[in-house]
Amino acid sequence: MRVYMKRLILIVIVCGLLWIIMPYSQRIEIPSMSKSSDLQNMEKRIDILKLELSNQMDKSKVLLEKVAELKEALDSKRVNLKGKGDGKTLDTARNLVLPILVIACDRVTVSRCLENLVKYRPDKRMFPIIVSQDCGHNATYRVIKSFTDSDPSITVVRQPDQSAIALPKTKVKFAGYYKIARHFKFALDHVLHTLGHDAVIIVEDDLDISQDFYEYFLGTYPLLLEDDSLWCISAWNDNGKRDVIDLSAPELLHRTDFFPGLGWMIMRHTWTKLAEEWPPAFFDDWLRNPMNTDGKACIRPEISRTHTFGKIGVSKGLFYENHLKSMHLNTKYVEFTKLDLSYLLKKFYDPALEETVSSLPVTTADQLEAMPRGSDAVKLTYSNARSFQHQARVLGLMDDFRSGVPRTAYRGIVTCMYRGRRVYLVPSFPWEKYDPSWG
Ligand code: UD1
Ligand code: MN
Repeated sequence: MRVYMKRLILIVIVCGLLWIIMPYSQRIEIPSMSKSSDLQNMEKRIDILKLELSNQMDKSKVLLEKVAELKEALDSKRVNLKGKGDGKTLDTARNLVLPILVIACDRVTVSRCLENLVKYRPDKRMFPIIVSQDCGHNATYRVIKSFTDSDPSITVVRQPDQSAIALPKTKVKFAGYYKIARHFKFALDHVLHTLGHDAVIIVEDDLDISQDFYEYFLGTYPLLLEDDSLWCISAWNDNGKRDVIDLSAPELLHRTDFFPGLGWMIMRHTWTKLAEEWPPAFFDDWLRNPMNTDGKACIRPEISRTHTFGKIGVSKGLFYENHLKSMHLNTKYVEFTKLDLSYLLKKFYDPALEETVSSLPVTTADQLEAMPRGSDAVKLTYSNARSFQHQARVLGLMDDFRSGVPRTAYRGIVTCMYRGRRVYLVPSFPWEKYDPSWG
């Protein structure tokens, strides 16, 4: 019985112990199992995170590349009409090519012109130089070749038609002007049609250029693209002598109805139209007839970006001594591509000019001569060719007309500086168009 009791107590103790130990054993074993699976989970999650992170980094890289691309695109779009323009910008600015067409004949001094074009050229790809040579003058050709041989971005083409131009006796003295017109036709056709460039900057072989010559054309090119009422950009101010320009405003540009020439740019579509009617001689005066340019305007600078050193030329040098020699060539570099030039668009320029002119006090050239120097702008009025010419002479301006258009005039208005003030020479009548009978 005692033994039995002992066994029973032992069994109860063992059962009791087992009863106590069982749940603990579960508690101990289960946590150890969950820890390992947690670790596995953690590892899995770390792997996923790693993957996500690396994906994110790839995406960031792509984004960074995109940002860099956009920044570059924005930089290249500097060449635009900032501010008020209609936003027609040069999307292709990076591929933009504005060839320089140098018109040469028999002057070996074309080297001076080419040296400056090369010296100030900011980009060979953007501004290839194409020399077109007339006159079959070998010494001049050799000079041009010395440039083309050492630089593939400079090329030369020779005007093939050297035949004599048959002219009546009275016109023989103008033969040079006939040859020039024939050469321009060939050269512009070559650059814009044969080579297919979109636009061209024409430079005659006796022109010096300012340091910001290229920047001027690059900055104004979008105006030609955007404003259909413009047909050309010129680097020349026909009234560009020191005394009558604002030397403190090298960035100032104007619209003009008078074709200035002497370093000018046109687009292919304009040439295509002009070429159909191109005259046999005096092409520049032909371009000054509003009938031939659909009454469109050009842009010209306050301070010229070209200067001619061609004293002995087809027009015989008299004009040079009296007039061209004292024209002022700009010396202050202007970053035109960074300027807002939208004020030159017709829709802004015309109303602004009208407002300016209508608010100014009227005086006469003779009164102005007697007035002390000053900075207040004034207006002079003219009613006919004679009164225009009288006042132009007093002011020191060119007093001639082409097809009734005074030099630098825009909608009949000529502006200049006179002893510190800005002066506007304005028609006294409601201006509608130029009168060819004025000269
Ligand atoms: C003047 C104008 C010029 C215009 C020309 C045409 C000025 C300062 N000059 O010429 O802008 O283009 O009238 O009416 O207002 N040339 C030829 N073939 C020739 C002779 C000349 O191609 O047989 C070239 C010259 O190389 C030069 C250009 O034509 O590039 C003008 O000739 P130039 O002798 O300089 O005449 P300008 O009297 O200055
Ligand atoms: Mn000349």
